[in-house]
Amino acid sequence: MKGAFSISFRLMAFSSIIPAALCATYSRSENIVGTGFYNSFIFEDGPDPNHGRVNYVDGATAMSQNLTFASENTFILRGDWQTVIDDSSTTGRNSVRIRSNNAYTTHVAVFDVVHMPQGCGTWPAIWEVNGASWPGGGEVDIVEGVNDQGNDQITLHTVTGCTMPASRTQTGTSGPLNCDVGASFGCSVNVGQAPSYGPTFNANGGGWYAMERTDTFINVWFWSRNAANVPADVSAGGTTVDTSDWGIPVANFPNTACNIPQFFDAHNIIINLNFCGDFAGQADVYASSGCPSTCTSYVDNNPAAFGDAYFLFNSINIYE
Ligand SMILES: *[C@@H]1O[C@H](CO)[C@@H](O)[C@H](O)[C@H]1NC(C)=O
Repeated sequence: MKGAFSISFRLMAFSSIIPAALCATYSRSENIVGTGFYNSFIFEDGPDPNHGRVNYVDGATAMSQNLTFASENTFILRGDWQTVIDDSSTTGRNSVRIRSNNAYTTHVAVFDVVHMPQGCGTWPAIWEVNGASWPGGGEVDIVEGVNDQGNDQITLHTVTGCTMPASRTQTGTSGPLNCDVGASFGCSVNVGQAPSYGPTFNANGGGWYAMERTDTFINVWFWSRNAANVPADVSAGGTTVDTSDWGIPVANFPNTACNIPQFFDAHNIIINLNFCGDFAGQADVYASSGCPSTCTSYVDNNPAAFGDAYFLFNSINIYE
């Protein structure tokens, strides 16, 4: 046994010196489709750490109120669209936040999304985090926006010491370069394509978001449903992907001045629909979006406005 351990240790030591650039081909480790979402994710109910006008329900409630719905090929996650919320409620509109059972370091995640929540007051997100020590452990926001405004924004959040260079190989536009949550709202990249978010994303039948995380970079790609350049291994959702064939990412976060393994722990995937809260509900953000009334009052009193406030997934594929 001791001998076997020593041999495998040497193999591991050897494999760790293969340059990351050679490792662009990954094999699928999870194919999450339809009812599989219930096996791969747990419901995070209870108070919202982001102060939203939201009540995250447990799995039994979500299913009984049809806030999650799985068919053989699709999974839906949405907010309540039928109930007027009493203004004296201490929580808010029922909605759903799910977290993957598995956590990942080096991996590729491909999200095939047909529809994302839209409407004034909505703050949907697909992201990765280790919630236990935040902002230690870092955060990667892959899909995020508020109040139907603008393009998708991809953002990293870390503790002090992780910054991004101004010049990067990406098609999106850099916002703040300091990822430190104490210094800014994170280091963000605006995808710069209208079909990347909200009503325009939905009108185009959605598309694919993909993230590749290694020890030396984090890259994110977006392809609209009918884009000419969707890689075949992405649209096919097959058993392997080769990210070296995917072209320039929309967002590139290199390790130039950010030691990725130091600032990013193993991450769970989180998918949630929030209302108002720290981002969508900020008075200036809400007002500048052209939405009526105040965020809380609008969300409480207009259930019919949330009929399109839902995610519809074809699949999530994980490659490692
Ligand atoms: C739940 O939602 C799905 C998807 O919108 C729909 O097809 C189904 O009929 C709904 N079920 C009920 C009981 O309303």
